[in-house]
Amino acid sequence: MDIRVIEKVYRRYAKGYDFYFGALFQPGRKAVIERMHCRPGERILEVGVGTGLSLPLYPPGAQVTGIDISGEMLARARARTARDGLKQVVALLRMDAERMYFRDNSFDKVVAMYVVSVVPSPAQLVAEMRRVCRPGGELYIVNHFQHANPLVSGAERLLAPLSRLLGFHPDFPLQNFLHETGLEVSERIPVNVLGYWTLLCARNGKAPSASAALAHAASRMRAV
Ligand SMILES: C[S@@+](CC[C@H](N)C(=O)[O-])C[C@H]1O[C@@H](n2cnc3c(N)ncnc32)[C@H](O)[C@@H]1O
Repeated sequence: MDIRVIEKVYRRYAKGYDFYFGALFQPGRKAVIERMHCRPGERILEVGVGTGLSLPLYPPGAQVTGIDISGEMLARARARTARDGLKQVVALLRMDAERMYFRDNSFDKVVAMYVVSVVPSPAQLVAEMRRVCRPGGELYIVNHFQHANPLVSGAERLLAPLSRLLGFHPDFPLQNFLHETGLEVSERIPVNVLGYWTLLCARNGKAPSASAALAHAASRMRAV
């Protein structure tokens, strides 16, 4: 899926997104924000913030920046922020999370909720999340990864050709993701209905592994 397809899909989803994916995904949003233990003054970046369903969950005093590629999704996040007077939200910006304008080490914690199986290059997204997060900072990812049960993963593979319509890749193997990104995960926590989604927690420590750096470089070459 290229970025134009993603924009088109989420332009279509924006109106009904909260109805279909609000309550269903909310336990995962709550779990990750509780895990982040955001302290006053901490600089938080949420990539692919969507309609901003997570924003009221951040504690007052945190300094939350949200970005999204979809103007329609972001408009809803802005309306929510204004309506609910969310002072913890410092900026909502339209930006490609694979090519962010932020300087290196701009944030203490960076989070992606239900985004890594949506973007064209998950390796490039994670490389960017690491770049803008300070060394020793924290990275959090909530996503569905290919199911361990062969029957379920078989069904997910059948859905794979519909990824352009669905707006995400239903067959997204965790092992490939970890290999390509070089992310050293400290915790994996099942979230949402039947634990079908996973919360990954990682520290922004070492440089990406050679394979992650290669995957990142290859995806950058494809982008130019
Ligand atoms: C499944 S929605 C998740 C939205 C939100 N995080 C939530 O919890 O509901 C995926 C979001 O990622 C955004 N997105 C996809 N690719 C992106 C990119 N390259 N840069 C920024 N946002 C992107 C989409 O526009 C959409 O809002």
